[in-house]
Amino acid sequence: MVERAVSELSPGMVLAADVLTPGGRFLMPKGTVLDAGHLKSLTAWNLAAVVVTGDAAAAASPTSRPGPEAEGLPAEDREAVAAVVRERFGAFDTAGEAGAVLFRLAVDREIRKRQAAGPEPVQAAVAEDRCRRPAEAGALGPLTPDVLLRDEPKLVSPPEVYLRINDVLRDPASTVEDAADSIRHDPSLAAKLLRLVNSSYYSRTMRAVSGRFPAKVDSLSRAVVVVGARQLATLALGVSVLPLFQDIPPNWVNMRLFWEHSVGCAAAAQAIAAATGRVNAETAFVAGLLHDIGRIIAFKQAAAHMGTAMRQAEAESRPLYLTEREVLGFDHAALGGHLLQKWQFPTNLEKMVRYHHDLEEPLFIDEPAVIHLADIVATAMGWGGSGNRRMPALDADAWAILGLTGGDLAGLVPVMEARLGETMRSFFPDHQGPP
Ligand SMILES: [Fe+2]
Ligand SMILES: [Fe+2]
Repeated sequence: MVERAVSELSPGMVLAADVLTPGGRFLMPKGTVLDAGHLKSLTAWNLAAVVVTGDAAAAASPTSRPGPEAEGLPAEDREAVAAVVRERFGAFDTAGEAGAVLFRLAVDREIRKRQAAGPEPVQAAVAEDRCRRPAEAGALGPLTPDVLLRDEPKLVSPPEVYLRINDVLRDPASTVEDAADSIRHDPSLAAKLLRLVNSSYYSRTMRAVSGRFPAKVDSLSRAVVVVGARQLATLALGVSVLPLFQDIPPNWVNMRLFWEHSVGCAAAAQAIAAATGRVNAETAFVAGLLHDIGRIIAFKQAAAHMGTAMRQAEAESRPLYLTEREVLGFDHAALGGHLLQKWQFPTNLEKMVRYHHDLEEPLFIDEPAVIHLADIVATAMGWGGSGNRRMPALDADAWAILGLTGGDLAGLVPVMEARLGETMRSFFPDHQGPP
């Protein structure tokens, strides 16, 4: 283990310790094999030095990052994996800065998945998805978001604990104890939050703040200290509504895959928010978690319309949100945003959900841009699925506003993936990978 100045690092070196930004935010995990993108990120953050392993062989070779050949996959299997990923990318521009990075990382991940579980899971997932398609409906008229929400009694009003937490968030005079109290009344919510706060993401933050390895966070009062009162209340807001959607089994989507996609988007949004400073990281996390809830409602309440929209999307190789607009008269993002507005969610959170596929409104582009990119990363990487088989196109203005480079993205994706696994296990204790 040796400390090296960032200017002396070269691709192939391996981090021997987690890297934190000067502000104490988690940047890269221990074990990262540095590539050109990571080096750019470390330089951009103005870090003086990092600790790398003393593995001379790894440090000497710029190609020591395990690639497909090193992992021993036959060439024809590599091509089959690339074909699966190409199908998912559809018309997505893989020549652009973000697309090229995401395509490479997505192929790497499919290879890792295949090596861990054999070739069947990749094909089985496709087969399961296809056999769940609803029958096509006949002539369908457009609906309204209000009609869909009115017919689902669970959604007419938010859960009680949510209202208490929202009161705390809306009251600038609320205290740390108010935040803990609002959550304490719901033991299952409190347990989920404590598991989340005990994940290594917050452990790292705590270590950066206190300079030592943190003790387990075993009380809400301590959780408030680690995460911050408003941030914990924001996380609680998102987590408090999850059971509502777990209790509405939609007819045509695999719920485990749906939540894996949502948690993946949340993890990605949190990392993008922390790296770009565009929005509070916890707000981005919750917006990512809830960004596609409109689709659960639509699958449940308008199954025939969604069946038509899915068939149309597949036949025309287009993203599902575009055919939703044609068949339903609005897309799942507008429906989710409508629900969050009715429930008086914080406005920025509602807008991040409502506009994640619609960045033409210049007033709202900054914050939704975080979810827009996070959704694309989660879809590109094959983290779960929300019924959408094709990646939506990346909005050029959103990418420009976030100010990330392809190298930044390459450095962030392993962080997001680690966070996805941790969060899935904290929400769903019986969750076993991948990831
Ligand atoms: Fe979406
Ligand atoms: Fe999504």
